[in-house]
Amino acid sequence: MTIDFPNKHFLINGEWVCSDVELDLINPSTGDIIGQVSAAGNDHINDAVRVARDTLENTWNNITARERSSILTKLGRLIEENIDLLARLEATDVGKPLKQARADVKALARYMEFYAGAADKLHGDTIPYLQDYTVYTLREPHGVCAHIIPWNYPMQIIGRSVGAALATGNTCILKPAEEACLTALAFGALTREAGLPDGVLNIVTGSGDTGAHLSQHSGIDHISFTGSVSTGIKIQQSAAQNVVPVTLELGGKSPQIVFNDADLDAALPFLVNAGIQNAGQTCSASSRILVQRGNYAKVVSMMTAKYKMLLVGSAMDDLDIGPLISKKQHEIVSDYIRQGTDLELAAKGKFNADINNDGFYCLPHLFVDVPPDHSLAQNEIFGPVQIIIPFEDEDHAIEIANGTGFGLVASVWTQDGSRQMRMAQRLRSGQVFINNYGAGGGVELPFGGRGLSGHGREKGFEAMFGFTTLKTVAHYHG
Ligand code: NAI
Ligand code: MG
Repeated sequence: MTIDFPNKHFLINGEWVCSDVELDLINPSTGDIIGQVSAAGNDHINDAVRVARDTLENTWNNITARERSSILTKLGRLIEENIDLLARLEATDVGKPLKQARADVKALARYMEFYAGAADKLHGDTIPYLQDYTVYTLREPHGVCAHIIPWNYPMQIIGRSVGAALATGNTCILKPAEEACLTALAFGALTREAGLPDGVLNIVTGSGDTGAHLSQHSGIDHISFTGSVSTGIKIQQSAAQNVVPVTLELGGKSPQIVFNDADLDAALPFLVNAGIQNAGQTCSASSRILVQRGNYAKVVSMMTAKYKMLLVGSAMDDLDIGPLISKKQHEIVSDYIRQGTDLELAAKGKFNADINNDGFYCLPHLFVDVPPDHSLAQNEIFGPVQIIIPFEDEDHAIEIANGTGFGLVASVWTQDGSRQMRMAQRLRSGQVFINNYGAGGGVELPFGGRGLSGHGREKGFEAMFGFTTLKTVAHYHG
């Protein structure tokens, strides 16, 4: 099986287009240049926006929700049929261990399935009003949606954002990250095979400049962005200039809170995996472990033992941890690790024997007894680095957990039902997990942050509201 998309091209109006500006694609496992992509310039963005608008008005608006649903269903099946190919492409381009890349492909297919099912189930309300009026609401697409996405989970983020936008009848312009374009382009090729009309999904590759042109364009009706806080702020400023809605998902510093009565054997795999999955380059990574005094020594020793066994190697070796995405990300993470030299380092993992020295590998680091105001306890590191912080009681746990600018996800490990409820209420966080972490990443579960983690909700049925605008019709009939 193959997925056809030509080298160095991006997709506008169903046609593969290129520019004379090229960016290298690098395999993070080896440091090798594995190809190039074209960078879309201003003219390409103008074309993409014009095409997306024309297609919206002349084609896509005339297609029923049920037909959109069938196209997304077909697309989901095609993605599943191509799981091996897509997973290998992602593993090579992003350095993600194969098993994790396969999980991303399955998630992308599942998003298509979920939003295919949801497409014809979104409807408005009728509202009781004055005598002689019938009032109802209509959920309408925003129009042309821009999706600017990062490199850490390209397929999952395409699934949750483009999937929901297409299901609700928007046309889309997708800007993948310069470090990770290949599965986005493959997805574009599959949309054509699934029968998505030309121009409904356009893909523009390129660096931050391409993203900036796109987000500043006055023809965009909605922007969804996942990435860094600093770029998120710029995107929100662009959205403000054009007075359009924006969804921002900007990462976090998400805690797991372990009380004295926690089931530690159940917790342990989550405590570690949630920090090192995708080499810690996960917006919802659990980078802070808060442990009540009575369990502190035990959790430190259990996590230390696990850390000592963690193996770092190439994506194709499919070990616990692959390389970081880029040299730049390796420098960012190494710098944080250096900031931890004043801390107690409980354990590091190990490199696989035949590791390629040109890859962007970083050993997992576990720091303990970290003061809650330390830079490693406050900033998103986006690498395989976890810290353990002790706490005394519930109030103290809340103070530390809510004591960063972020608020994406949090989890609580305790057997006490009343405490579970209190903690769920008091945590300042977009998602709260009780006695688990991540809940398997369910596509059904609304997701998004508070504070520096951003605003707006993606995933689940909730995203269908985010990608639509509500019209109220008041019909006077005498
Ligand atoms: P970034 O936020 O700069 O890049 C994300 C996307 O935004 C890419 O597609 C990029 O081309 C685009 N972009 C960059 N500048 C832009 C601009 N001015 N206007 C419009 N689009 C623009 O993130 P980067 O540099 O890749 O990573 C830096 C840090 O960001 C990481 O160390 C990590 O802490 C955080 N990050 C968080 C993510 C999350 O899932 N929340 C994902 C990726 C990075
Ligand atoms: Mg790459």
